[in-house]
Amino acid sequence: MKICCIGAGYVGGPTMAMIAKKCKDVTVTVVDLNQSRIDKWNSDDLPVYEPGLLEIVKEARGKNLFFSTEIDQAIKDADVIFISVNTPTKLYGSGKGKAADLKYIELCARNIAKVGGGDKIVVEKSTVPVRTAQMVKEILSEANNTHSYEVLSNPEFLAEGTAIKDLENPDRVLIGGDSTDNGKKAIEKVVNLYAHWIDRKKIITTNLWSSELSKLTANAFLAQRISSINAISALCEATGADVDEVANAIGTDSRIGPKFLKSSVGFGGSCFQKDILNLSYLCKHFGLPEVANYWNQVVEMNEYQKSRFVQRIMDAMFNTVSGKSICIWGFAFKKDTNDARESPAISVCKRLLEEQANIRIYDPQVSKATIIESLSIDESDSRLTYCESAKEAAQGTHAIALLTEWEEFKKIDYDDVYSSMQKPAHFFDGRNLIDPDVLKHSGFRLSRIGKV
Ligand code: UDX
Ligand code: UDX
Repeated sequence: MKICCIGAGYVGGPTMAMIAKKCKDVTVTVVDLNQSRIDKWNSDDLPVYEPGLLEIVKEARGKNLFFSTEIDQAIKDADVIFISVNTPTKLYGSGKGKAADLKYIELCARNIAKVGGGDKIVVEKSTVPVRTAQMVKEILSEANNTHSYEVLSNPEFLAEGTAIKDLENPDRVLIGGDSTDNGKKAIEKVVNLYAHWIDRKKIITTNLWSSELSKLTANAFLAQRISSINAISALCEATGADVDEVANAIGTDSRIGPKFLKSSVGFGGSCFQKDILNLSYLCKHFGLPEVANYWNQVVEMNEYQKSRFVQRIMDAMFNTVSGKSICIWGFAFKKDTNDARESPAISVCKRLLEEQANIRIYDPQVSKATIIESLSIDESDSRLTYCESAKEAAQGTHAIALLTEWEEFKKIDYDDVYSSMQKPAHFFDGRNLIDPDVLKHSGFRLSRIGKV
């Protein structure tokens, strides 16, 4: 079997590397428009930082795993084509700021129709609004050739930072398709692929629309848990309750469960906000404004949490950060990734810059270029200093804001850091990562989410 995956991003790259590793009888070609991204996939400096990924890529690359910009050729040769291109929030026209922009998916479908090369199974891997497969089907059915196309939905549930673990041992694999004979055959083919390493009991098959909607719903439910606990964190600060204690107390109820109850400066990443906005937009489109508002509130709570965090900084620092220097530890939207898309650090830093603070940023994996681009500032902007270590970033600052839960921040010599800072030195822990006992002797004024 030959597989082609269009889109060599955070989803396409790791997923295809795992399929190649587990299915030695399958040839996997990952294609992308972006030449420099493909060049990186073909080097030891991968475009995606993900623990364990490089080893897997090195093991399979050049044997049954290939990265290329020869998109048409790879489509032509493939039996199964995964579409893994981005579906960002639309930035223009109708649905601006809410709907998913499906132009890349549509381009892929048109290209598949144009290129031909025999019968194919086309699999939506990207997260898409429910009923997107209808659009893909219609485009393919108008292809100027005699080939037949089966469209499936197989959303990816991996989380960044744990992608390899999640791919190796997923909670479930979801495959949606038509219940026609050809639809069932196509589903079976993709089920067999995953069955190389995943127990068949974990492979769920559904109709197309259930599969598409399940992905949006899963992300909405996960994000809702974070917004729920973050809402309670504000009440904890007002009442003297401790949000971690509350999370622990409710999480031991097996009906609630312990995961995804970590209060934070807010959720980030390329999926949660985009998918909830999209879900909410769909609800409006289908005449369900109350349902739309219900889900929208999850995003609003997240915005509130980020602005509340900056407000706490302002309050603690005598209502002004103007001319002060603030150290930012962590810029990625979570640990173990170089991805900063929708990271809460972006909103926090932008607000601090608006308040005329100078910021010194250190993140173990996020590049200077990514930071500058996501803050929409000039490379020469003197308000930002990019640092090579946590200690260097703290030097001479009035406060540290910890925004990503990188493990290395737990292992720092806090007395040493404190002595290099302006006094009074503040520590704003946006992830409740640092044990307050560790800071106790150093003299920091500590402020944590959901704690007084
Ligand atoms: C993205 C979405 O964020 C996610 O919701 C969806 O489920 C899968 O796609 P990700 O892999 O993180 O996830 O996106 P990104 O890293 O931006 O990768 C997409 C790649 O597709 C880019 O490298 C881009 O160059 C490529 N692309 C995009 C194409 O090759 N062709 C196109 O027409 C458009
Ligand atoms: C998410 C989903 O988990 C994954 O299944 C889906 O395929 C894509 O979207 P991802 O965005 O990679 O994955 O990361 P995730 O681990 O879900 O974290 C998202 C954000 O929530 C991060 O900013 C994280 O720090 C934050 N978070 C997570 C919390 O603030 N508290 C928590 O308890 C958990």
